[in-house]
Amino acid sequence: ALDRRVDSLISLMTLEEKIGQMNQYNGFWDVTGPAPAEGNASQKYENLRKGFVGSMLNITGVEEVRKVQKIAVEETRLGIPLIIGFDMIHGMKTMSPIPLAEAASWDLDAIEKSSQIGSREAAAMGVNWTFAPMVDVSRDARWGRVMEGAGEDPYLSSQIAKARVKGYQGDDLSDPLTLAACVKHFAGYGFSEGGRDYNTVDVGTSTLYNVILPPFKAALDAGARTFMNSFNDLNGIPATGNSLLQREILKGKWGFKGFIVSDWGSIGEMVNHRVAQDGRAAAKLAIQAGSDMDMESYLYIKHLKELIESGEVEESLIDDAVRRILSLKFELGLFDDPYLYCDETREEVVVGSAEHISGVLEMAKKSIVLLKNKENLLPLAKSGLKVAIIGSLASDKDSPLGSWRGLAEPNSAVSVLEGLENFSQNNYTFAKGAELVTEPPTFLKEVKLNTTDRSGFSQALEAASAADVVIAVMGEHGFQSGEARSRSEIGFPGLQQELLEELIKVNKKVILVSISGRPLDLSWADQNIPAILQAWQLGSQSGNAIAQVLFGDYNPSGKLPMSFPRNVGQMPLYYNQKSTGRPNNPGDDIVFWSHYSDVSNEALYPFGFGLSYTQFDYSGLSVESLANQQVRVKVNLKNSGLRDGEEVAQLYLNDHFSSFTRPIKELKGFQKIHLKSGESKTIEFFLGPEDLGFYDGEGNLLVEPGEFTIMVGGNSSPTLSVNFLLK
Ligand code: IFM
Repeated sequence: ALDRRVDSLISLMTLEEKIGQMNQYNGFWDVTGPAPAEGNASQKYENLRKGFVGSMLNITGVEEVRKVQKIAVEETRLGIPLIIGFDMIHGMKTMSPIPLAEAASWDLDAIEKSSQIGSREAAAMGVNWTFAPMVDVSRDARWGRVMEGAGEDPYLSSQIAKARVKGYQGDDLSDPLTLAACVKHFAGYGFSEGGRDYNTVDVGTSTLYNVILPPFKAALDAGARTFMNSFNDLNGIPATGNSLLQREILKGKWGFKGFIVSDWGSIGEMVNHRVAQDGRAAAKLAIQAGSDMDMESYLYIKHLKELIESGEVEESLIDDAVRRILSLKFELGLFDDPYLYCDETREEVVVGSAEHISGVLEMAKKSIVLLKNKENLLPLAKSGLKVAIIGSLASDKDSPLGSWRGLAEPNSAVSVLEGLENFSQNNYTFAKGAELVTEPPTFLKEVKLNTTDRSGFSQALEAASAADVVIAVMGEHGFQSGEARSRSEIGFPGLQQELLEELIKVNKKVILVSISGRPLDLSWADQNIPAILQAWQLGSQSGNAIAQVLFGDYNPSGKLPMSFPRNVGQMPLYYNQKSTGRPNNPGDDIVFWSHYSDVSNEALYPFGFGLSYTQFDYSGLSVESLANQQVRVKVNLKNSGLRDGEEVAQLYLNDHFSSFTRPIKELKGFQKIHLKSGESKTIEFFLGPEDLGFYDGEGNLLVEPGEFTIMVGGNSSPTLSVNFLLK
């Protein structure tokens, strides 16, 4: 029935109206990319009235959405409603932690719930479609957009991608509190050379099929209705004009029925990539390669008609793209009621509800990772202590909102300082020591760091020396990671490292709360600071979550979704490396093996690592072969410490020999388990051919018989292992 409705509408449309559906305009103010030279507001209104706009982005709020929808519905010839897109990445007004932080929870139910909170608020504000989840695997902490993904591992990223799609889309797209998902950026964006945003991507088929593509496929299998292509070129062809990715793999082999939107201006950027001589050639390349909707290049609307009339582009390609776009509009219920998402009362009730606030607090607590806790310095007592809180990020109410912060009210997060005061009666003294920035950071501009003004150091050191314990809150501002925020150094920016080194001289009991949107180089801190908490940018309830972990009201359960390096020179760093031909130190100081002369190959804190205030013990690992290349793995997990807590049991696999080189270990299963103090549980994992196999150079799954090792434990260096033979 849906197909019939779509086809009969298409049969009424002129060529211009069809191309109009493939045209997406930015709203008239905010930009999330370079402001285009053309396309002023009056031109946009004119095209909207003619029915030459299929979608708009960055229009939010029931009142504003209603205005543009009214034009589309009441003033155009066919009255086709717009689909309204927005980057609801980790919240709309009530902010959840940044996605990389949420990934550290390894808690799929919590991530689904958090995604649902954001999509409920966005949908209540008139939005139909979020440009999320971002599922780009990345192994390079220099790349600022790691904050937006789920880290370095394809398996964890795939599970999280599914949870997010479920959270956004629910099971009924026409429910006005759900959004259509847009999986991005297809593909390879996380592998930009040197971690420099928008840079070239050149990867082999082994990485493409086994690392980059699996999370996209998982999101598609979970029902994701749209994809976004990418700014980067991949192996010599820009993703936006890449037929292998879009037509052969996504729409061909994977059978994707939804539509692909370009990234901001990425059709036009193919001229800069120098694969298209001009905008007309870029439009031709993009449509032929399978890009269905043009975000802010204005090139489809400008050139497609003529390209079809001249016979250079087949009209059937346009019909196919329009069919895909209209189908989603039908599914979202927009044809039945174009104002379905425009209800002021719903907006009022849903946005910022108490339920959402407590939901993001839960998510934030689960996202924190305890990296070091010498002599059980943590948790802290709630009263009777003199505590010095040091660092300008401690009182910052803006930074925790992170990048891609939707419509969050600036300075609306609970600061660490406020959180500590909310949950305890200690005697607190606060001193910034030094400002991190010289002016308030924004989404659009480079962050300006304070690198000279140390005038606050003495006050901070005085407070620290008089305290029983020091809480140093240090790291990146929320706008120091995100799009176009690549860094070549990944230590603490500004004067913070210097301050930290001074602090430890006057008080040995320093707890470092490390704030960042990426793995930082914490080597010095690891050597010198007794307790370290990785607290990311945790959203609206940041300070409350941090306080609850510091005081042990919540026992930390997060595990790193990316390896934390010993220095930036280790980039790209990832646990699932291949063996190489020279993996082992030959001994006797002989140098001829794959290593650095000046730093270990290993991460400082490995993927999957995170401590708890209790102790978890693994025992009794066993494996049993079942029919049809399936195996069952069992392991006992015991909470042998004194506190209740949660553990993420992780299963890694190694294939001893195969026709392609394979990683020394790969995550293939995990479970987050809550155990009371003293409690034990037997955990079961099932692996099938998809887990035991891998993709060859053409993207075909190969399952090769032979010997495998299974390793299980609480991080990516597990202590228990067992072998089995796959027949
Ligand atoms: O969705 C984003 C994308 O991730 C980066 N460029 C702009 C798009 C729309 O804001």
